[in-house]
Amino acid sequence: MNERTEQHRERLAAHVFVCVNDRDSAHANCAAAGGEETFTAVTEWLRERDAYWTAVSVTRTSCLGLCSDDGTAISIQPRNTWYADVTPADVPDLLESEFGADAERVGGGT
Ligand code: FES
Repeated sequence: MNERTEQHRERLAAHVFVCVNDRDSAHANCAAAGGEETFTAVTEWLRERDAYWTAVSVTRTSCLGLCSDDGTAISIQPRNTWYADVTPADVPDLLESEFGADAERVGGGT
């Protein structure tokens, strides 16, 4: 085991988890609600601001417990911020409110 907490904290300001969970049932799931498209919108927004995988990591994840037919669930850690019903069209406003228009607040604060 190799604990890398300190090194990772120095590099990484935030980690965006985007649910892309699919399930074979009638229950709502983010895959059916545009999860992959929302994941792409998040990565593109960050990439355009040179923040993708430099200061902000983005990961597809399984169910975050915010399932909906109306959009995707997103969690931003370690901020402990949670969103449901996110569509690709919502992503610019969501990320701007979290990180600033040019991702100048990736380090935290408001
Ligand atoms: S399937 Fe995405 S939050 Fe449950």
